[in-house]
Amino acid sequence: MKNTQQNIEARKDEFLNNLVELLKIPSVSADSKHDKDTRDCANWVKNSMNKIGLSNIQLFETPGHPIVFGEVIINNSLPTVLVYGHYDVQPADPIELWTSPPFEPVIKDNKIYARGAADDKGQFYMYFAALKCMIEANEVPCNIKVLIEGEEEVGSVNLENFVNNNLELLSNDVILISDTHMLSNEDPSITAGLKGLAYMEVEITGPNRDLHSGTYGGSVANPINTLCKMIASLTNEDNQITIPEFYDKVLEVSPEHRAEMARAPFDLEEYKQSIDIEKEQGEKGYSTPERLGIRPTLDVNGIWGGYTGEGAKTVLPSKAFAKISMRLVPDQNSLDISEIFKKHFEKIAPKSVKVKVSVHHGGEPAVTDLNSKGYEAASQAMEKTFGKKPIPVRQGGSIPIVSFFEKALKTNTILMGFGLNSDAIHSPNEHYGLFNFYKGIETIPYFFQYFSEK
Ligand code: BES
Ligand code: MN
Ligand code: MN
Repeated sequence: MKNTQQNIEARKDEFLNNLVELLKIPSVSADSKHDKDTRDCANWVKNSMNKIGLSNIQLFETPGHPIVFGEVIINNSLPTVLVYGHYDVQPADPIELWTSPPFEPVIKDNKIYARGAADDKGQFYMYFAALKCMIEANEVPCNIKVLIEGEEEVGSVNLENFVNNNLELLSNDVILISDTHMLSNEDPSITAGLKGLAYMEVEITGPNRDLHSGTYGGSVANPINTLCKMIASLTNEDNQITIPEFYDKVLEVSPEHRAEMARAPFDLEEYKQSIDIEKEQGEKGYSTPERLGIRPTLDVNGIWGGYTGEGAKTVLPSKAFAKISMRLVPDQNSLDISEIFKKHFEKIAPKSVKVKVSVHHGGEPAVTDLNSKGYEAASQAMEKTFGKKPIPVRQGGSIPIVSFFEKALKTNTILMGFGLNSDAIHSPNEHYGLFNFYKGIETIPYFFQYFSEK
């Protein structure tokens, strides 16, 4: 990998410039106003694959945003790595909280600021950079397939079908993804588990129209008051979730494993400071890293209804709404939990209101086999470039396609992310450290090398 590393060194500025270009494209998958931009981004990815020298490059249409594929096949007797990433990004709002416009990347304090900088454009582009240099140096040690999709942030709704219809094209010995974060730049880590997701939307209806809150107030159920009480009842004073059967399938983690996890460095004071809170909060009996990594959670993601404009309007609203999501751990199942939630939420609604519960996209949890060849290769690669053996850490985020890939393609997924928790993904002022960007590019070729040697 010597020539590869020299090529990387020589092309550092070029790669950063390319990333800037990529980050300028507002590929917001959730917002149909950006459909054309999202397609432009898919084409950018396709052209970029062409420039780095991949073959069999294809842009696949889906009912939603396109999927882009390319590969470098050296020899069918060598192992094959499938790299996955996503070119779509989260919406940028609230725009007014950005210190520079989200799609006009700026470099400040050795970080690049833009929507998608860390999630996931900056991370998947590291593979393009690494591949360019490996191909140029004639140092590609195995077959490499690259799949970049445009719907991860909206639940990868069309990817499952695509995978089922292209099992041969995507066949591999291991799947490699950089779309997660490390403990810190000094404490490299590998994501050893991701949570699943069940995402619900609820609608509470009281009277058939908005009413005067004086002439009717106190005599009919206010759907917002009612919704708040219902939501409040979903957790108890120990911050446990009260939905019957919710915890039934949760695999308890052994005391030995918990003790081992507790050895990963975590600074609670720093954690609180970084988000400006006095006191952390979570399920009784578990530490903050455990709450994040191995326990299921429930959060309201949005709540609305009634009058929220300027000034005061005395209204007793007809309807109230909320989006409520639950993060799941092994062996909870997204559909089961959605059903359990629906049944419970309908049951706790008082007779004075009507309740409607609908289910959005979800996903299943995933855990990494720490004894697999893929994990070992990632661990060795990071040790090589960080000078320190990475620690396995379970994280609270979700990449729903991971468990599906493993089922359909029957191989392990390795989550070798280079971001940081502080990158502000999904938030205003998202950024990615240049250290992380270049470290990723440097590390990736070693993964391929070590994996092929196993
Ligand atoms: N890259 C994230 C997931 C992530 C972030 C995992 C940090 C671990 C650490 C991904 O793009 C994401 O945001 N996923 C969504 C999934 C949802 C849209 C189905 C999530 O976790 O909310
Ligand atoms: Mn992501
Ligand atoms: Mn994301």
